[in-house]
Amino acid sequence: MPIDVVLGLQWGDEGKGKIVDLLAENVDVVARYQGGPNAGHTVVHGDRKFVLHMVPSGILSPHAECLIGNGVVVDPERLLQEFDKLGAAGVDVPARLRLSHAAHLILPQHTMLDEMAERLRGAIGTTKRGVGFAYGDKALRWGLRLADLLDDAHWIDRLRSNLERHALALGPAFQLERELARIAERLEPARIKLRALAVDGPAWLWERMGQGRRILAEGAQGAMLDIDHGTYPFLTSSNTTTGGVCTGLGVPPSAIGEVWGVIKAYSTRVGEGPFPTELTGPEGEALRQHGNEFGATTGRPRRCGWFDAVIGRRSVALTGTTKIALTKLDVLDDLAEIPLATSYRDLKGEAAPFPQTAEQFAAIRPQTETIPGWNCSTQGIQEWGKLPRAAQAYVARIEELLGVPVALISTGSDRSHTIWRT
Ligand code: GDP
Ligand code: IMO
Ligand code: MG
Repeated sequence: MPIDVVLGLQWGDEGKGKIVDLLAENVDVVARYQGGPNAGHTVVHGDRKFVLHMVPSGILSPHAECLIGNGVVVDPERLLQEFDKLGAAGVDVPARLRLSHAAHLILPQHTMLDEMAERLRGAIGTTKRGVGFAYGDKALRWGLRLADLLDDAHWIDRLRSNLERHALALGPAFQLERELARIAERLEPARIKLRALAVDGPAWLWERMGQGRRILAEGAQGAMLDIDHGTYPFLTSSNTTTGGVCTGLGVPPSAIGEVWGVIKAYSTRVGEGPFPTELTGPEGEALRQHGNEFGATTGRPRRCGWFDAVIGRRSVALTGTTKIALTKLDVLDDLAEIPLATSYRDLKGEAAPFPQTAEQFAAIRPQTETIPGWNCSTQGIQEWGKLPRAAQAYVARIEELLGVPVALISTGSDRSHTIWRT
């Protein structure tokens, strides 16, 4: 059985959690391949709302097994908090979740450094979860992995040597031996509770692939936040696109099946960085209010703007998207007309190549076309035929611009608020 993938095509928060939850009904395994506690995936079941950060959204399907792959950065303390929160809601996470030994750890020093860097530099607007610094340690080859946390003989020495590497940046107030003792003590519960969950991630998956199990790979963030293909340096530190599935889980490209690209019917972004169709005035505020666009992880107001088909087409190509899940169509219900960007032009009005730097983004103007609105509620609609004509035309135009079928339309946050077109 091929591995299907769910990933974001914009700057994150496209509604991946809801789509994974829907698809998880028909799969046996859900595996997260990148990102960390920077993610906030919201799943709504009736009056119950769950926000997942590191635990795959598939955990809410009682029959599904879940894996946190080697490509994910894991904050052990936050992970245990997530277990407790889900446990209080009746979800027994440790019973169904496994973690790759090779997943790198986010430790308190990474979070401290992320907070310091944001204070001093203030440039990216990270989630301050230590994600960039943990991936930085991984690339520098002095990171600590789950296997190190569980290695009784070497754990303290490895933690000390990592702290020594960071001591200079952390400043003279950071007293190494004292902090070492404090951090080691904080991590002791995780050393005990995560031990039984650690597995050889790729081998665990290969076994299930061999048994013909249906596997879904869950992405975090979005294609425009990909470390290689996003709006550098305003992005996250992992490969959010399809290649990240192979490296982040240890599975070959030939194993990839459908790629579900999740995209909102408009655009949002949290943090700094280029956003060509951003609306900074009352129109953006209206989208924010109607779409409840406030971060699931940090509570920050999300920046809002119109749908951008230039970004959409590029992300489809970058990810090999085979099916689009178009979310939050209902948020546009009250608009008399809906602009969407179809191309970029430079300041002289000529066709512009895709910008490579923030400065180049500042020097382009998105060209928009306007689609008539539908001025009535689509909230909760479950059948294509029940959508107003104008809403169907909007979806059809997006499909045409992206060149991939819109196989699912989401008309509300609940799992039932869904139109399947497959
Ligand atoms: P993710 O990070 O991609 O999983 O997305 P988030 O969960 O951060 O943000 C998406 C938000 O939109 C969540 O609060 C969802 O409950 C909500 N949502 C998802 N689909 C829809 C939809 O079709 N309509 C509306 N109004 N809300 C939706
Ligand atoms: P989900 O999975 C939206 C953004 C941050 C910041 C940049 C870098 O819920 O879609 P980081 O903490 O990763 O170093 O921050 O990336 N960012 C997200 N934006 N959704 C997310 O995840 C995000 N994860 C990180 O706001 O601009
Ligand atoms: Mg989110």
